[in-house]
Amino acid sequence: APTAQAAAGSDRPTVVAHRGASAYAPENTLAAVDKAADLGIRWVENDVQRTKDGELVVIHDATLARTTNAEQLYPDRAPWNVKDFTAREIRRLDAGSWFSPRYAGARVPTLEQYMARVSRNHQKLVLEIKNPALYPGIEQQTLKVLANEGWLSRQHLRSRLVVQSFSADSVRTVHELRPGVRTGFLGTPDVADLPEYATFADQINSTYTKISTAYVAAIHAHRGPHGRPLEILTWTVNDADTARRVAGYGVDGIITNTPDVVREATGGS
Ligand code: G3P
Ligand code: CA
Repeated sequence: APTAQAAAGSDRPTVVAHRGASAYAPENTLAAVDKAADLGIRWVENDVQRTKDGELVVIHDATLARTTNAEQLYPDRAPWNVKDFTAREIRRLDAGSWFSPRYAGARVPTLEQYMARVSRNHQKLVLEIKNPALYPGIEQQTLKVLANEGWLSRQHLRSRLVVQSFSADSVRTVHELRPGVRTGFLGTPDVADLPEYATFADQINSTYTKISTAYVAAIHAHRGPHGRPLEILTWTVNDADTARRVAGYGVDGIITNTPDVVREATGGS
């Protein structure tokens, strides 16, 4: 897990399986969570959105088109927005065949199903609230599901859970609703703005293309809302050379579709 030691500049980053082990199994499915577990990867990342009837589901795009067979099953429902389909309609979709026939029949998981699987596998979760502007109140609703699934216990808050978003407002809302939850802001703020971000975010999680040793050091020089040094997870790094380079910057974690490759290259865990 990201730790104070890592924040001080360890070059052995935490490895986070992006949308699960998504190079090897269809992203954001239970199969991708299990694939990460099979590889011995403890952290997974996912994306959470909401159905028409208010169920939280795990899927990356705002539409169902790319990662399911919605176009075939519901041909007259373009552009297949997640928010225009009920949970029951989404349950019928195949979220695996687009990736490989081997995964035919994989489903779009509900957040409850997803959390249960991550728990069963003794894994840890970076949960991304995706497109929150489309889903008013999704922060409170997500926290409620996390609470119901036991993920707001002291142990989970300390070491098993981070909630992140590209929306600073969304991250701030999560922090204000449940200050004990560790949070991440997705982006690369100017260094001058880090003190403001540090009031509500424990992590600044940036694309690897915009960071440097100096940027990582600037992040580590601030303390987050829980009094510990800010951390940085960087994404999405899928090759050994880039993984070694960003590990050399001192990042705390690497979010990757190929967690086995990144672990091997960096000695991370
Ligand atoms: O967790 C970082 C990464 O997931 C952000 O980009 O588009 O894959 O959600 P995206
Ligand atoms: Ca994501």
